[in-house]
Amino acid sequence: MTEISTAPEARETWTRNSGFILAAIGSAVGLGNIWRFPGVAYESGGGAFLIPYLAALLTAGIPILFLDYAIGHRERGVAPLAFRRLRRHAEGIGWFQTGLLFVIGVYYAAVIAWAMSYFVYSFTLKWGDDSQTFFLEDFLQVGDPEISTTVVGHVAVPLVIVWLSVITVLCLGVSRGVEKVNIVFIPLLLVGFSGLVIRALTLPGASEGLNALFTPKWDALTDLDVWIAAYSQIFFSLSIAFGIMIAYSSFQRRRANMTTSGLVVAFANSSFEILAGIGVFSALGFLAYQQQVAVSDLEGLSGPILTFVTFPAVISEMPGATLFGVVFFGSLVVAGFTSLISLLIGVSNALQEKFGLGRIPAAVLVGGVSGLISVALFSTTSGLIALDTVDQFANNLGVVTSAIVMTVFVVWVVRNGDLLRRHLNAVSTFQLGKWWLVLIGGVAPAFLTIMLIQKVVSLIQ
Ligand code: PFF
Repeated sequence: MTEISTAPEARETWTRNSGFILAAIGSAVGLGNIWRFPGVAYESGGGAFLIPYLAALLTAGIPILFLDYAIGHRERGVAPLAFRRLRRHAEGIGWFQTGLLFVIGVYYAAVIAWAMSYFVYSFTLKWGDDSQTFFLEDFLQVGDPEISTTVVGHVAVPLVIVWLSVITVLCLGVSRGVEKVNIVFIPLLLVGFSGLVIRALTLPGASEGLNALFTPKWDALTDLDVWIAAYSQIFFSLSIAFGIMIAYSSFQRRRANMTTSGLVVAFANSSFEILAGIGVFSALGFLAYQQQVAVSDLEGLSGPILTFVTFPAVISEMPGATLFGVVFFGSLVVAGFTSLISLLIGVSNALQEKFGLGRIPAAVLVGGVSGLISVALFSTTSGLIALDTVDQFANNLGVVTSAIVMTVFVVWVVRNGDLLRRHLNAVSTFQLGKWWLVLIGGVAPAFLTIMLIQKVVSLIQ
């Protein structure tokens, strides 16, 4: 049975299905895959982490991705409008998600700007022999209360470039902006990054790095934090429960194979993530080999330090260092930029739909305000701390809360789960059985609630 909404069709659409798929992959594949996944997997049980990771992907990741798709595609609005169409008073859920996008966008742009600076530094290996001192003292000038002109130069200037580029793409719109950028950059990213991984795999010591990443530490499976890490990683990495996939699928044509596209996106995202883990840890194995230590003795194997301190040290040791550095930081910039656009289009379109703003004023307003906040926060020396705190709150608490509220609301409050299931089935080849309702209405919210409580308790203690 066809369950297609009869709302008037005045919105922008993707030109083709592959445009939607590439844009969704562009949003999913980002800093989270390259900069977050390898460290999280290593610290959360190594090979054993793949079990909670796959469990999170299958019980919450893909089912909630389908839920996002169903809401956006059927209701034809970005998050606030889509929730309002489900129930008048539910618009707030959409605004909550839009708020998360805004907050994440502000710090996400900063990391892209750092990567951009490092892209340039790769040509001369500017970080020298001591990449840690370079990053903390010369680059971020942590602990120095004065905002110096150098920090403004190497953080603020790239940030401004990032934000101006975002505004330009948003002004161009969905098909002429976002779709085109992804059609060009995503294939380029896949080719460039795959080359990087192959190079890393052929370095001496690579197998030690892979052993360090993949050797299972089975005890981790009894640690609730490891499960929380897996679910958070999946949410962030797939860009779900943030309203983004609602926005992207609302631009999809009415007849579009939604669930099959979702499977392609989820598979591509996880494959890229595992590829990044392999590349990063092969390179770390090489560093350990050069320094004659075990990989576990290396310091700084996660977060920004992995990317901006440990990785530059690896690059310096390598034959063909410049090329490797340029492709690595270039990949970060490209992967991050296609995700940043998705974060911001959610915010800018929400304002367009709510206040009737035109595309260009909305893009300039959203890009301008987020850009200013990001320059103010991250051109000071406390950028690193700000990043960590915001990441904790927006990412761990915010998105998990959003996922619980959204699933419970759809399945138990408005009781539209089955309607949305039939909507997706009417347009897609991969059919969702009732199991989907069990996952989004039972398994996912139950598990996420346990995680949320645990997380709040650990933060209070
Ligand atoms: N999925 C992106 C990443 O893995 O880096 C980050 C992201 C983009 C999160 C868009 C949320 C979002 F709405």
